[in-house]
Amino acid sequence: MEMDQLVALCKRRGFLFQSSEIYGGLNGFWDYGPLGVELKRNIREAWWRDMVTAHNELEIPPGAPATYEMVGLDCAIIMHPQVWKCSGHYDLFHDYLVDCRESKRRYRYDQVQGRWVEAKGQRIFVTTEAGGDEGLKDTEQKALKFFNLRAKQADELRWDGPLVSLTTVSDFSAVLGPDAKTLGTLTAPREFNLMFETHAGALRDESSKVFLRPETAQGIFVNFKNVLDSTRVRIPFGIAQIGKSFRNEITPRNFTFRSREFEQMEIEFFCHPSTSRAWYQYWRDRRYRWYVELGLAGERLRLRDHSPEELSHYSCGTADIEYAFPFLPPGEFGELEGIAHRGDFDLRSHMEGKLVRQGNELVVELDADGKPKHRGSGKDLRYFDDQTKERYVPHVIEPSAGADRATLAFLCEAYQEDMAPDENGVPTQRVFMKFHPRLAPIKAAVFPLVKKDGMPEIAREIYAALKPHCNVFYDEKAAVGRRYRRQDEIGTPFCITVDGQTLADGTVTFRDRDTLRQWRVHKKDCLAELLQRLR
Ligand code: GAP
Repeated sequence: MEMDQLVALCKRRGFLFQSSEIYGGLNGFWDYGPLGVELKRNIREAWWRDMVTAHNELEIPPGAPATYEMVGLDCAIIMHPQVWKCSGHYDLFHDYLVDCRESKRRYRYDQVQGRWVEAKGQRIFVTTEAGGDEGLKDTEQKALKFFNLRAKQADELRWDGPLVSLTTVSDFSAVLGPDAKTLGTLTAPREFNLMFETHAGALRDESSKVFLRPETAQGIFVNFKNVLDSTRVRIPFGIAQIGKSFRNEITPRNFTFRSREFEQMEIEFFCHPSTSRAWYQYWRDRRYRWYVELGLAGERLRLRDHSPEELSHYSCGTADIEYAFPFLPPGEFGELEGIAHRGDFDLRSHMEGKLVRQGNELVVELDADGKPKHRGSGKDLRYFDDQTKERYVPHVIEPSAGADRATLAFLCEAYQEDMAPDENGVPTQRVFMKFHPRLAPIKAAVFPLVKKDGMPEIAREIYAALKPHCNVFYDEKAAVGRRYRRQDEIGTPFCITVDGQTLADGTVTFRDRDTLRQWRVHKKDCLAELLQRLR
């Protein structure tokens, strides 16, 4: 599947639109259309149900070290600015960017790649934002243009090594920027904090500055004690939250994959330090299985453990669940979710102040006067186990997923083409979205074969009986073959057609989107049949 085909389908059928499109759009922001909103809601609801409300705290789930409890939260997007100072986001949540003085464009330093090439006695580093084969082609075209050579003179270019990151280049004077015509136009890399700033209240000065949250996780940590004090949860337990996060990404790209406003589905799971490794293993496997169960099976999905060099300074284990999105070069994967063992870093930060690593220890970072650089709340966030009489700071396992990235992956995975008979029985190409029935925006479509002989009346009765239970769609316009195709293209798993035989024996045709198999069901049994198949 080419990404362009999916993007076109998403716009044509109302899954996704560019935000503020009538004004030319706003880079990094997206709107979900009538079908997209249903798909994303179904993903969020599947996550909430599977992780929180349907979790049985009385039984040990397969692979878990023990029973555990799960509760939820819904926190404010704007929090006290000290939250972000103690969490490290204020000082550390940045990317490096480089600006091009010639094209006035801005790039993420680590996303610019290039190749060394020599021609006409000059050696330069030609850069591109593309990867893989596309990056090779792009750099060749740029080098030909720079050296004023024709395509047939490409063998005059002497390439030195593969595509490598711009971060490997120390002197930018020989660098040709991705959109530049002359050398040395890129500025030195500089830090860029990704948090969006705004002001709370009438004054617009330093004292009123607040941030749109860049993750939902911190709302959970700062409410840890509230949850303990207001419920009867005991460790081990998890707190889940779904909500919007905001990051002023330097280069939003790849459809919704890297957006500036997006939704996260995060769990902070609190456990005793002695069992935290076993819980980390459990959550790593449990979260991977969730995607598989909903249809992201196969080679495009993988679970990748971080190497020790990749780990955050506080983490003793992190794994990413990744998907081979079609916009990535072959062999490359994009992150859907990270599962991190965060130790006691977060709760301690909010008690003591911003922490830094000193040898093997996490200590409060001090300013020039020897005082905490960012003071914590001073509240005791330790857990008291009334059975063992132990008081300790729990360790945290964090499965952190992106709802928009999951939606995009399910859209990519669902897109299918095959040959199927059209309304005249002639095999033609069919596009269908093979969503898992739990995720499909519309669960069934109800049609009268023709708009006469009492068929619409029966179809409407069936529609009315199904509607309170699930999202169904009624359609009586155009030939039934065309109606089937329209439902296939938006991923409706079942179509129910009232036809001539219905008038004779009360049965209707059920049709399966994937196999095209048809079978008959009595009109009174449509609801039971549908609910059983959706399950
Ligand atoms: N609390 C940990 C945390 O926020 P993260 O890896 O920065 O970790 C978690 O983000 C997930 O949020 C990612 O795996 C991804 O699915 C999603 N995400 C992060 N940045 C995003 C962006 N700019 N656009 C869309 N989704 C994003």
